[in-house]
Amino acid sequence: MEGTERENSTLPVDEYISHQRGMYESLHRKSLDNPEEFWNEHGNIVDWYSKWDRVLDDSNAPFYRWFLNGKMNVSYNALDRHVRSHRRNKAAYIWVGESGTEKIVTYHGLLKRVNAFAKALLDAGLKKGDRIAIYLPMIIEAPVAMLAAARIGVPFTLVFSGFGANSLAERIRDCGAKVIVTADGGNRAGKVIDLKKIVDEAVDQTSTVTEIIVVRNTGNPVDMVEGRDFWYDEVTKEQNAYVEPERMDSNDPLYILYTSGTTGKPKGVVHGNGGYSVWIANTLKWAFNPQEDDRWWCAADIGWVTGHSYIVFAPLILGLTSIMYEGAITYPEPDRMWDIIEKYGVNLLYTSPTAIRLLMRYGDAYPAKHDLSSLRVLGTVGEPINPAAWHWYFKTIGKSKCPIVDTYWQTETGGFIISPAIELGLGSLKPGSATFPLPGIDPVILDEQGNETPSNQKGFIAIRKPWPGMMISLNNDPERYKSVYFSKYPGKYFNGDYAMKDSDGYYWLLGRADEVMKVSGHRIGTIEIEDALVSFPEIAEAAVFSKPDEVKGEAIVAFVIPKHGVAHGRELTEKLKKGIRETMGPILIPDEIHYVHTVPKTRSGKIMRRVLKAVYTDQLPGDISTLENEASVNEIREAIETLRKEVGR
Ligand code: WTA
Repeated sequence: MEGTERENSTLPVDEYISHQRGMYESLHRKSLDNPEEFWNEHGNIVDWYSKWDRVLDDSNAPFYRWFLNGKMNVSYNALDRHVRSHRRNKAAYIWVGESGTEKIVTYHGLLKRVNAFAKALLDAGLKKGDRIAIYLPMIIEAPVAMLAAARIGVPFTLVFSGFGANSLAERIRDCGAKVIVTADGGNRAGKVIDLKKIVDEAVDQTSTVTEIIVVRNTGNPVDMVEGRDFWYDEVTKEQNAYVEPERMDSNDPLYILYTSGTTGKPKGVVHGNGGYSVWIANTLKWAFNPQEDDRWWCAADIGWVTGHSYIVFAPLILGLTSIMYEGAITYPEPDRMWDIIEKYGVNLLYTSPTAIRLLMRYGDAYPAKHDLSSLRVLGTVGEPINPAAWHWYFKTIGKSKCPIVDTYWQTETGGFIISPAIELGLGSLKPGSATFPLPGIDPVILDEQGNETPSNQKGFIAIRKPWPGMMISLNNDPERYKSVYFSKYPGKYFNGDYAMKDSDGYYWLLGRADEVMKVSGHRIGTIEIEDALVSFPEIAEAAVFSKPDEVKGEAIVAFVIPKHGVAHGRELTEKLKKGIRETMGPILIPDEIHYVHTVPKTRSGKIMRRVLKAVYTDQLPGDISTLENEASVNEIREAIETLRKEVGR
């Protein structure tokens, strides 16, 4: 593969990618027709202490169990096995700080740090099966903490460092974390975020935490509570510690990652050790075809699943060198990303449509200042990519030589599920389509009644067969796991996206079909923000929906009904925004807040967000009689008229 890959890298993209299409097809077919044989082979991408008895146990569906009774350890696979090989002194991470500082951490260096921290976690009294929370910015200690927890069999939840105290507290409570790992601060666009203070506020709302470990990062002063709070550098003094990796069962939990759904409470998606590792390592290899000396840059935040799977676990399992960048991609100048690519010779870049649209706005002069010739593959994730952004990425950044790998997946799927697959010889690309399902994935587009839709027709995407990377359950809530994902279409996985398959068999992802928004690629539930708004004493009711936004993809709009007699206007708006920033985090602040007297509701009292969005974006169909089963047409019409006057539409 290596020869062909390199040789073709100077050709125009269609020639570069059109060969070997048959390889993808036969592999995909085999994965569905003979999964036992397929996964018996592909399961060996990781090392096992003892092999599985069976590839898949589906006797308790939909709680699928992959690589039954197989024993392995993720940190062993990410570190020890490389340290014993030619990769010992290879860079695992080239870490770049926002201020320009640089740190190179080799596989050997990373293993030492992980051992030292694993020892600190054991000293804190943790045992296999206990849980910890990690609330860290984009610093090396984040992967260290994740790998150390994986090493001793302690599932972790890593909370995005942009979430506020209430969001953090909710996650600590749900997973029962005993230890929290945080930092004195995080750097973002030239500002320092006081993470320890947020942790203290969160811990006050919970009862399980016995120890807080604090990394010295920004050097700003923090309050340390005697006997509870410890400095990271003090607890990791034992530099030559060795902690034997736990022999984890394939289906033991590795981590819990909270993500938004259609109710207020975030869902704790649980990923296991074995199937998840096998999935993310294979998918990264299939999709991007990384080579031994490549430099891989996944520019996501470690707090999202993209960071978990493709900054930390998959590239380390494959023994790659990753760039890890701490700060904002436009700081101090809008060419920060291009500068890093040039300086470190990045070969494979993986970012989001939002980032591409943002950088595109600054114009072509910024990328033109840099030599981007090291780039070979460009990836994208998180939301549908519009053709204009695709073309700009392809032409201006990739100089029409780098395929665009548009990866479609979700927190729940563990890794990519629909994506171009360079290693398998992908066919021609269509801008805006994630192309074809990866091996093991059997998607189908269905209508409301569960019938397969004809090609070119929009429907709901469902997956007919389980795959190794899928979540193993929802934390503390197996019933919710069943009802959220497997009840709309019994026996099939469904998680709320619209999609279409065209007559050439390409898949087009068409956005969320439920009450979840993708704002700058962040997954946010409308209901989380509504709950936050109505928790203010001034607010009686709130309805949140999104409107299209040129850069962010979607922007958050809130219609708020204040309580009787409450003065509303700019002051209240500021108060609501500030409150949401502190409790929930800045990414959940509505872009617009409108005060209204009424919102249309169904007979059972559910807010009709679909109607609100249509009124607001001027797309309301003249005939609203189709809504009649939801509420009386007169009531809706009246509510809409009042709204139109109030928000000036
Ligand atoms: C959306 C992010 C179109 C989709 C990895 C999905 C996409 C949700 C794409 C999951 C893509 C992700 N094209 N839409 N390439 N990738 N999505 O859990 O709506 O944060 O359901 O995982 O992002 O978001 P999550």
